[in-house]
Amino acid sequence: MRQDGQLEILTLCGSIRERSYNAALIRALPALSPGGMVFVEAPLIVNIPHYDADLQQLSGPPSAVAALVTAIRDADGVLIASPEYNYSVPGPLKNAIDWVSRVPKQPFAAKPVLIQSVSGGLLGGARMQYHLRQVLVSLDALVFTRPEVMIGMAPTKFDEQGNLTDEATQTMVRTQLAAFATFVKAYGQKPQVV
Ligand code: FNR
Repeated sequence: MRQDGQLEILTLCGSIRERSYNAALIRALPALSPGGMVFVEAPLIVNIPHYDADLQQLSGPPSAVAALVTAIRDADGVLIASPEYNYSVPGPLKNAIDWVSRVPKQPFAAKPVLIQSVSGGLLGGARMQYHLRQVLVSLDALVFTRPEVMIGMAPTKFDEQGNLTDEATQTMVRTQLAAFATFVKAYGQKPQVV
């Protein structure tokens, strides 16, 4: 928790596309938050090279990875909003998580994590969510369970400017954020890294 009593939630987008619906969802969060939460954008994952154990051994994690590790450690919770690619987690997001997982005292352990997804399809990225949940379980993250936010048929929920306009979806996100805030306060604790 920050000194002003606000929970700091790091937002990580699984899409690197400029007009991403998932990035648009992240931009909508402050207006839908119950209060008491601030959203901080994660360092961009677009500049992270493919995971390479040789590169890691030679020069340690690249600076883009180190920045992400620090941002995760500093946050009270992490919110990942991601599309589904071929029924699973998009490569750039999985790659970022793989890098992060290889640092000593990897930062997802005991970290509250919330998953959201937006997709063009009917299922709203549900299959990606369960794959991502499995990955995060392997890292001992405290993955929030329900209510879930899976936003399908994205073009019918957002306007041309990327504003989330669908009222039922807004309510769903609002309810989930309030529940996640309670979850973070109840279970989240920043491990001391020395
Ligand atoms: C997709 N898309 C997609 N949608 C879905 O619901 N299930 C899927 O398995 C896939 N698979 C898939 C693979 C690849 C390689 C691409 C590029 C796209 C469509 C996807 O939901 C849509 O493009 C979203 O708009 C992507 O999210 P962003 O970039 O708008 O955040």
